[in-house]
Amino acid sequence: MKEKEFKPPTVSRSIEVGDANSPASNQYQAVTPPATVEGSTPTVEYSSPVETSTRNEENPVNKRTDITMEIELLQPWSVPVLKAKLPDDVLETMIEISDKVLADPNSEDWGPNLVGQIDKELAIPREMLIDTDVMGFFLEGIRTFVKLCKNQQYASLTKEAGFQEEWLAEMLVPWIVSQHPGEFNPVHEHSGCHVSAVMYLKVPEMLPSKKAHRPNEDGAIIFQGPNISSALCETGFTYKPAVGDFFIFSAQQQHGVYPFRCAEGQQDTERRSVAFNGLFQSKSDFDNNRGLEQTSRGNSAGALT
Ligand SMILES: [Fe+2]
Repeated sequence: MKEKEFKPPTVSRSIEVGDANSPASNQYQAVTPPATVEGSTPTVEYSSPVETSTRNEENPVNKRTDITMEIELLQPWSVPVLKAKLPDDVLETMIEISDKVLADPNSEDWGPNLVGQIDKELAIPREMLIDTDVMGFFLEGIRTFVKLCKNQQYASLTKEAGFQEEWLAEMLVPWIVSQHPGEFNPVHEHSGCHVSAVMYLKVPEMLPSKKAHRPNEDGAIIFQGPNISSALCETGFTYKPAVGDFFIFSAQQQHGVYPFRCAEGQQDTERRSVAFNGLFQSKSDFDNNRGLEQTSRGNSAGALT
């Protein structure tokens, strides 16, 4: 299957919504052209790579095993996690912005809104993302995620439903998590929003995990699924991030962060990420004054985690 292309933002216009005094009110950015997605209907050669006795073509039950046909995997009951890599210029800009916020003694402590057992969690004014031209990139990220999820959610109704609609997106207050050895984020979800995202700006050298057969858990993010494990699926996903990694996921996706250790006397021990929550709505619902789906905007400004 070809990779789906995460296009840079194409913002055609903006629509003011909500209470201008509420931190949750921002501008919905409407995009006119749909995201370019290639190869969304893969053709797969239906042929097992495993040679077993049941693949023995001498066996009459295996007379027709090499068949080429179009297949789809349907899973409308779950929301995937989008994983991407920040473009270099966006990464650089976010590092610069976070350096400034961390150095500013007047930056707003966002910790009271969060569950992390972490000392330094600071809000980033959204204007900093708008003024440096990276806001559009993140809004387009939300829209791309929504389109792909809607394609899956409504697969039984229409093909590529997410691409049939124009989507509006809004970012709520982003925040920095400056995590150091011993600090952690218990498993949680986010409220008052539809989607959440996290990007990684700094990852320090960490001591190896205590158990060699579990090498990638220290400092890792955990995405926990609602399912039980089977021969064909896992209960969750643990990922040790690198600088530039970027995830978008459902706000109801359970997630957390493990602690990590650094060598004694190590100077740079900061694991720095920036997270944000987001809202979305189809443009037709917005034009018809329909409410936002499955969330209240009441506490969305708080971005409680
Ligand atoms: Fe979180």
